[in-house]
Amino acid sequence: MTSSETIDLFSRYVIGNYRRFPVSLVRGEGSYVWDAEGNRYLDFFPGWGCNLLGHCPPRVVAAVREQVGRLIHVPNTWYMEPQGLLAKALVDRSGLDAQCFFCNSGAEANEAAIKLARLNGKPSGRYKIITMLNSFHGRTYGALTATAQPKYHKGVEPMLAGFDYAPFGDLDAAAKLVGPETSAILVEPIQGEGGINIPPAGYLQGLRELCDKHGLMLIFDEVQTGMGRTGTWFAFQDFGVKPDAITLAKALAGGVACGGLLAKCQFAEKLVPGTHAATFGGNPIACIAALATIETIEKEDLLHRAAKIADAFRARFESLRQRCPLIQHIRVKGTMVGIELSIDGTPIVDECLKRQLLINCTHGTVLRLLPALNLPDNDLHAGCDIIEAALLKQAQG
Ligand SMILES: Cc1ncc(COP(=O)(O)O)c(C=O)c1O
Repeated sequence: MTSSETIDLFSRYVIGNYRRFPVSLVRGEGSYVWDAEGNRYLDFFPGWGCNLLGHCPPRVVAAVREQVGRLIHVPNTWYMEPQGLLAKALVDRSGLDAQCFFCNSGAEANEAAIKLARLNGKPSGRYKIITMLNSFHGRTYGALTATAQPKYHKGVEPMLAGFDYAPFGDLDAAAKLVGPETSAILVEPIQGEGGINIPPAGYLQGLRELCDKHGLMLIFDEVQTGMGRTGTWFAFQDFGVKPDAITLAKALAGGVACGGLLAKCQFAEKLVPGTHAATFGGNPIACIAALATIETIEKEDLLHRAAKIADAFRARFESLRQRCPLIQHIRVKGTMVGIELSIDGTPIVDECLKRQLLINCTHGTVLRLLPALNLPDNDLHAGCDIIEAALLKQAQG
């Protein structure tokens, strides 16, 4: 089928709730994807942050192929070896005395965390959760209410009760919101959708102290930052702050749908039978894919690669900033890259697409790159050349 034939199908049969580029993608390998016409694109935003190992990572492909012929799905009324092994692998790498619950997406993982915070707070009448302005936690009602951005609430109100919002990075503002009904603080250690916002020094530690002082749960949404994206298994390890729970999805299973909540045992025990469930959660295919993802990251030493990629991007874009007045700020942590512009980033994304490079723009003005951890140096520089050319063309008007 050509791209335009597929687009025609969508126009008639698929609900139009996404803005899509007019290209039908049919194949991927590493940091490249191909469209139906055979054009090749370099992908600096593979799978919207899900394809941390690029497209079709060989170990994940092999593990899923093998598993799919053995057992596709059984319900959580049974024990499954891959789910148990994955829970152990995540807990071991977290360094926390914790247990896991599995689901299928980031929003679902945050729903589980919200429920856990309420179940934990219930005996003392606590149910409110503090989240941060410009956060993003997902599109289901709990996660969406936690997402402190009015544009996502518009038209679908009323939102869920029990959420208070503080500016990201402002410890005093968070402290002022704590009251007798507060049960938890939920925060992305680095805001992704909000523009790759790295917290000020001491902020996450300050939130930890606040939670300890008031007996609140500290929950980190690591849906975008987790699984090695920032150069450690979980971003909290780089900031030296231990949360009570983290939520995971996106890169967890190398591009296969999988979400998870990892919670310290003293909290995890509140999720007793009947309190929460996900029919597909922790299914053998997702779990085997996640195990293969972890194995790949370790065998290929990709946590260390994240820091090298970060240095290369930082050097490229800091140098460009001297020559391109459109660039306001560069924010880089591992393979999370934000280039804040003085203008809307959409024309830059479109120009990159014309030059066969896929990037993203978030929060209106921030070019966001979430490249694969195994992006080779020559591809990194080829993509940076394209972004540079697109930005300089725009700057010259
Ligand atoms: C930090 C964070 N949390 C949660 C979500 C929601 O994840 P999902 O789209 O898998 O529900 C996202 C998605 O972008 C995210 O970036």
